[in-house]
Amino acid sequence: MALVTTKEMFEKSMKEHFAIGAFNINNMEFIQAITEAANEANSPVILQVSSSAIKYATLPYLKKMVEAAVETTNIPIALHLDHGPDFETCKMCIDNGFTSVMIDGSKYDFEENVRVTKEVVDYAHSKGVVVEAELGKLAGVEDDVNVAEDDARYTDPDQAYEFVQRTGCDSLAIAIGTSHGAYKFKGEARLRFDILAKVKEKLPNTPIVLHGASSVVPELVEMCNNNGGNIPGAKGCPDEMLKQAGENGVSKINVDTDLRLAMTAQVRRVFNEEPSVFDPRKYLGAAREEIKKTVSHKINDVFCSANKA
Ligand code: G3H
Ligand code: 13P
Ligand code: ZN
Repeated sequence: MALVTTKEMFEKSMKEHFAIGAFNINNMEFIQAITEAANEANSPVILQVSSSAIKYATLPYLKKMVEAAVETTNIPIALHLDHGPDFETCKMCIDNGFTSVMIDGSKYDFEENVRVTKEVVDYAHSKGVVVEAELGKLAGVEDDVNVAEDDARYTDPDQAYEFVQRTGCDSLAIAIGTSHGAYKFKGEARLRFDILAKVKEKLPNTPIVLHGASSVVPELVEMCNNNGGNIPGAKGCPDEMLKQAGENGVSKINVDTDLRLAMTAQVRRVFNEEPSVFDPRKYLGAAREEIKKTVSHKINDVFCSANKA
């Protein structure tokens, strides 16, 4: 199967109320683990690459490795630019065979976000590529904000409607309380499902995207900390909330942190338990297995995208 856009997988997800995992990739082990897990579950999958991942691995390597994954599996795979910072980066990815790009204009005011998103949409659509945009700001738990400021960060459903009409974007990332990284909530985890419902009411046919959606798997945090790591108090979105999001209109769920934790936990464990090991295949192999296990769990038990290929 060749690389696909997210169009068909999102249509199916909206009709059948499940979510598709979008997993960040940085090197071969991530790509193999994610696509093997998706292939075994017969699930569609999105491989996403940030600009810093492009800087780290370079486009020619990433492209060829993704091509290899497509060649060795039999599921729909989309290659997506995560958090495209500007038109030029989006264009570079579109010109290099990506099937989907995100233009992240959430750092701008509404009008500038509309302008840059529309610019990317016009170019992407002329090349058959789809575009994810973002409206609203994902809070970091470290940002000390008051309630009024906090409310202003969430996506406004009326603005979301206007934004999609004016830009023609294919999917929309919204802010309902998630945040990037391993420290998402100070107290209880809480997502604004009321805002999600209002956005879906206004935009029933627009696939909705949830960023910052790692569950920060407690067992992986513990494995890191028990083997010399120091990531106390890490906290993510509980699986039940992500499942609820997938059942209620979220079509794409972004996961990076959990895969980083999976890799780091196993590398730390091997180094700690087997100090004589210096064959990278031993610790990277264990890391790859842990990433695969993490992705399998999400696909099968949380996103419910198994057998939806
Ligand atoms: O949302 C951001 C992703 O986790 C990518 O992070 O820019 O460090 O690759 P990165
Ligand atoms: P996490 O940091 O929760 O994994 O979110 C990743 C993400 O949103 C990538 O765009
Ligand atoms: Zn993100």
